[in-house]
Parts: sequence; C-alpha cells; structure tokens
Amino acid sequence: MADNRFWRLDAHPKGRDFAAAFSLQHEPVPTPGEGQVLVRNDWLSMDAGTRMWITPRTDGYQPPLPLGTKMVGLCLGRVVESRAPGFAAGDLVRCFGQWADYTVVDPALSGLMKLDERVTDPREHFGALGMNAWTAWAGLVEVAKAQPGETVLVSAAAGATGSLACQIARNLGCKVIGIAGGPDKCRWLVETLGVDVAIDHRNDDIAAELAKIEGGINVYFDNVGGPILDAVLPNMAHYGRIAVCGLVATYDSETPVPGPARFDQVLMRRLTISGFFLPDFMERAASFVPTLRKWLDAGKLVMNFDETVGLENTLDAYAHMLGGGNIGKVIVRVRS
Ligand SMILES: NC(=O)c1ccc[n+]([C@@H]2O[C@H](COP(=O)([O-])OP(=O)(O)OC[C@H]3O[C@@H](n4cnc5c(N)ncnc54)[C@H](OP(=O)(O)O)[C@@H]3O)[C@@H](O)[C@H]2O)c1
Repeated sequence: MADNRFWRLDAHPKGRDFAAAFSLQHEPVPTPGEGQVLVRNDWLSMDAGTRMWITPRTDGYQPPLPLGTKMVGLCLGRVVESRAPGFAAGDLVRCFGQWADYTVVDPALSGLMKLDERVTDPREHFGALGMNAWTAWAGLVEVAKAQPGETVLVSAAAGATGSLACQIARNLGCKVIGIAGGPDKCRWLVETLGVDVAIDHRNDDIAAELAKIEGGINVYFDNVGGPILDAVLPNMAHYGRIAVCGLVATYDSETPVPGPARFDQVLMRRLTISGFFLPDFMERAASFVPTLRKWLDAGKLVMNFDETVGLENTLDAYAHMLGGGNIGKVIVRVRS
C-alpha cells in the first residue's frame, strides 16, 4: 500500500524550535470520503501567519490547531481521486490542505480551486497569482485605497506578501519604500523590484530614515507590527492609512503583545488603522485576478521562489522563512 508522510503537530513550538514540536508520521494514502477530494501535493507554501495557529492562543482570527493533528497549510498539486462535483483526477488545484505527500479535503472548507493550466510556471499560483498577491492587493487597493503619486511604505518588503505589495504599489504609480532585513534584501528591492527607497531594519535607524521622506507616508502596509510600527507612526502623513496585514514580530508569543507605544500619533495625525484578513475578501478576488495576470504576463509582477526540496525538510524551510532568510516566497517541493 502506498505511503503518505505527514507532519503532525505534537506540541506548541517554543520560538523556532520546530523539531521539538512536529514529527514526520507515516500512514497509508487516505481514501477520500463522500464529498471529498484526494490531492497529491507538488508544492507546499510556507506562510508566516500559520505560526500563530500553532500557539495555544484562542483570541486569534483562527482557532489554534489541535495538538496531535496534521499541520495545515496551502498546497498546490493534482487531484488523484475526486468524490466531489466539479473536480476530476488530474486537475491542477490549490487548497488549504496538509503538510503531507497527499492531502484530503472538503472543497468548500479548504477553498479548493481549479487553477489555470496555461500559466507557464505553476508555482505562480503561489506567487503573482497566489494568496499573497491577493492579500497585497486587498490591503493596498481595497483597505488603504492607495492612490497614484502617494508614498507607500511596506514592511517585510522582501518576503512573499511584501514583495508583491511593493510591486503592486509601484504599478499603481505610487512612490514605494520598503523595510527589510539586511543589505542584500535592500539591494534586491531597489535593483530588481524598482522600489524607490529601501531601509534595512537590522542596520539602519528606521525612524531617522523615514523622517527624510518628504511629505510623510500616506499608506503603511504593515506585515510586522512591534518596534517598526513605533518608528513609522510619527512619520505618517496627516490622514494616512495603515493596513495591518500581519504582526510577524509577535507571532511566536503565547500571549498578546502590547500595542504601539506611539498610539498618540493616531490622533495627532488623524490616521486610520484597519486590520484585514484575506478570507474576508475571497468573494471579490475574481475582480482583481485579471490585473495581476496582466502584470505577470507583462513582467510587471515577479516572484522570486526560495524552494526547498523534500517534505522531510519542511521544518527547515519554515524556520528559514520566519527567521528572514528568504527573498521572496518560501515553498517546499514535495515531489520532483
Ligand atoms: N492578513 C492576511 O490575510 C494575511 C495573508 C497573508 C499573509 N499575511 C501576513 O503577511 C506577513 C508576511 O507573511 P509571508 O507569509 O508573506 O512571509 P514572508 O514575508 O515571506 O516571510 C516572513 C518575513 O518576516 C520578516 N520578519 C520576521 N520577523 C521579523 C521581525 N521581528 N521584524 C521584522 N521583520 C520580521 C522576515 O523578513 P526580514 O528579513 O526582512 O526581517 C521574513 O522574511 C505576515 O505577517 C503574515 O501574517 C497576512
């Protein structure tokens, strides 16, 4: 009988010690039940937001993943067997499945979606056409309503969501400032993505660099929270908008982290701060995909894939992403 390897969450991780929290288990390849679909995973997406689901916190946007269950994540692969209408063996699909060789899902619960086979590199369904791109669009366009000529600041700018947010802002005609960790990432932001200014949060004085931005920051696409947000708040333009996409600086904390020390600037500068969560925008995603596709085809939306080979190496890829070792999107190639 064919073997399915899967990562099981055994304990809540401490920091980035994922080896102590997960174990690679084996089982026979599962059989889909009525209404379910069996997918063979080609790639797994490493997403920073999942770090929060594996803490015991119950006040997040998603309940904690129960201990002893398969780790959940975005998967890209092909349908092996379908017992659900609308899906057939061989379909290229993306869904919230499991960190495993094979994923069994309920289409509605997992957001199972058939993908466009004409896209030359299927990994772009995790890149320029993936959830990170949809998130970047939702935050910039729908939430912060970034306008041409405005100054847009993006944190974790060299990561998956951030690098797409930088390019979308640039394509919209905004001036773009990216904050990222290290000189290599900053150089990549300016030279490859066409970001106007890159600030290195490991080596630069962020507040001092932001104070040089003439006119202040109209839109802050925040992926990080923490001390960077405090450096940003006094440098926002009046009536600026902050789209809170993520708080990756705090995700490995098991308890809520206190809010910004410079909250006073919300009043002083008449700022609007809005948190947003991509699943709330799923119905509208169809309206922004055509523009993303047009930009991808025109070379105006590019993704750098940081690929690790082998399901057995997933924990290394995950820690690499959360530790900021990545430029672009971290993915795991499950089968070659
Ligand atoms: N709201 C939503 O619906 C939604 C959807 C998708 C993603 N997100 C959020 O988007 C953010 C990025 O996620 P992603 O999956 O695209 O990951 P990613 O940006 O590809 O990787 C995470 C990055 O976070 C940065 N980072 C980690 N700890 C940091 C710290 N203490 N201070 C500053 N930067 C830090 C690292 O970059 P540096 O080396 O530059 O520090 C690292 O590369 C996360 O906050 C995630 O929750 C939200």
